[in-house]
Amino acid sequence: MTVAIYLPSQDNTDWWVKLMQGLLPGWDIVSMDAVTDPAAVHYAVVWRPRTGDIARFSNLKAIVSVGAGIDHVLADAELPLGVPIIRTVGQDLTQRMLEYVTLHVLRHHRDMPRQLQAQAERDWHSIVVPVAPNRVVGVMGLGNLGAAAARILSQVGFATRGWSKSPKAIEGVDTFAGEEGLAQFLDGCGILVNLLPLTSATKGILNADLFSKLPAGACVINCARGGHLVDDDLLEALDSGHLKQATLDVFHQEPLPSAHPFWTHPAITVTPHIASRIDAETGGRLIAENLKIFRATGTCPDVADAVRGY
Ligand code: GLV
Repeated sequence: MTVAIYLPSQDNTDWWVKLMQGLLPGWDIVSMDAVTDPAAVHYAVVWRPRTGDIARFSNLKAIVSVGAGIDHVLADAELPLGVPIIRTVGQDLTQRMLEYVTLHVLRHHRDMPRQLQAQAERDWHSIVVPVAPNRVVGVMGLGNLGAAAARILSQVGFATRGWSKSPKAIEGVDTFAGEEGLAQFLDGCGILVNLLPLTSATKGILNADLFSKLPAGACVINCARGGHLVDDDLLEALDSGHLKQATLDVFHQEPLPSAHPFWTHPAITVTPHIASRIDAETGGRLIAENLKIFRATGTCPDVADAVRGY
């Protein structure tokens, strides 16, 4: 029973190997690069696996994504079909995402960037914004993270909307679904939060056409995947003044290259993919629990749907 672990940095992988050895005594836990008998590997625990790494394991029972998204696993062109992929979500990750979304929605809502600029100019400039019930905040994607974010924003008092591929009902949230519901969802939406899974249907969804359907002065928060956003369209919408501000936690290339214009754009806040970055000890415990359940039962509640992509 071998568990092979791979994360993009060897330091991280070694750290995770030690962590998982402590959490799963009796299991054989190794770094993917140290696997000597690929046929003995039953589980692969990965973040952004290298193409072909997983295909070597002919007796694989499950792949574990060290995170909520599975797009980074599905991006492996040689990924063996039909092997279950277990997501790592849990209360810790969800709580972190809620904190991030609430922080940045409130920051845009209360126009903190402008207020901080006024402070820098020693300008006693009182910015009076609409009260939350008069501000429409829209959450795209109503999976565990999106639904939880919509619920909390509604509890803060925002006029909260949610949009998803198929219809969903969430108390206190006006929900819209599908292509046909998108324009109505965006109409009047002053702060847009993206929490969609990255699939072929959602790639590039944050583009000029979508921005043009938001009201002038809207703010965009992307804490899902860089692939959702057309970077140049965002820059254009900000530079034209149609959009006011953006907060970006995820990027096409990570780390964000130092020459990328997002780093220095006055209307963009960049954070380094930390919105829901799990505390590793907690993540390790969750992964160990899921592996134990999967080994005992052949499945677990966090198995994703690889065909749907989330
Ligand atoms: C982070 O981006 C995750 O997928 O959990």
